[in-house]
Amino acid sequence: MSQQSLFSQTVSRLSQASVRRRSNSHAEVLADQGALDPTHPGLRLPEGDPLAQSMWYQSLPPEQQSRIGFLRLAVSLKTAWQFENILQQGLLHRALYLSEGTEEFRYIHYEVIEESQHTLMFDELIRRWSGSSRSSRSSGLSPTLRGMPSWLRHVAAQLMRILGRHSPVVFFSMVLAGEEPLDLMQRQWLGTDDLPPIVQQVLQIHVAEEARHISYARAAIRDEAARLSSLRRRTVAFFTPVALGIMVRLMVRPTHDLLAGGIPRDVLSEVYRSPAGRDQMIDGVGRIRALLAELGLVDRTARLMWRAMGI
Ligand SMILES: [Fe+2]
Ligand SMILES: [Fe+2]
Repeated sequence: MSQQSLFSQTVSRLSQASVRRRSNSHAEVLADQGALDPTHPGLRLPEGDPLAQSMWYQSLPPEQQSRIGFLRLAVSLKTAWQFENILQQGLLHRALYLSEGTEEFRYIHYEVIEESQHTLMFDELIRRWSGSSRSSRSSGLSPTLRGMPSWLRHVAAQLMRILGRHSPVVFFSMVLAGEEPLDLMQRQWLGTDDLPPIVQQVLQIHVAEEARHISYARAAIRDEAARLSSLRRRTVAFFTPVALGIMVRLMVRPTHDLLAGGIPRDVLSEVYRSPAGRDQMIDGVGRIRALLAELGLVDRTARLMWRAMGI
């Protein structure tokens, strides 16, 4: 079977799954108007989280641990929806140049629909964190989260549109560098006991739907890599670790908002340098690296770049 038809079969199967497994659970989450207690014991950081392993966090009273846990979760959701917004722009831009009726054209639109639902759900949880209601956003008790710096949002949005059309291997690798570390973090949260029901519901929906998005990005990388010329392969191998190193830091080290939320700077630096902190970055891109290596896109020079980027 040719690569092309294998790819379009995979994408067609993913489209069918998007239709078949579509649930109304997003609507339930959005209709839920209940408050969320920031000191809920289920909001304490998962044990595997690098910050949870710090002496500073462990010496906090339980209620304060929950507040910090909720902050960490809210910050990751803020970065996540900004990333998903940029991802949707890249995907739509890619679809603009595909013929309508192709399997990939259809699938992209299912994925964009799901990502928009995710943004709404994440925004809903961020509102619970900030204590603001849908009618008055300004009544928030907590500071507004920034997520990605605005210049970077701007640059990333322009860049992802160009890459989605002209350098799909780098584009889909960056997509995975957003989706996979987030997926690992969300699975860690789902592995804890006693999560507040709305948090559990949001994370379960997200993890289930992201599995399709991850499959699509991986299939697209395989398909596109087979068509690269040898010069393009070397350039892609060289630049991908740079892009991934930046992406994974954005996803797992949202320093600005964590400092603003009251976590001391020296605690964060220590957490980042700790074995758990380093592993979180390396593991976040571990599966992408294995895929690129399998496709011959991690040569000797590239390996130096991966190391230089700390991944
Ligand atoms: Fe998503
Ligand atoms: Fe996604």
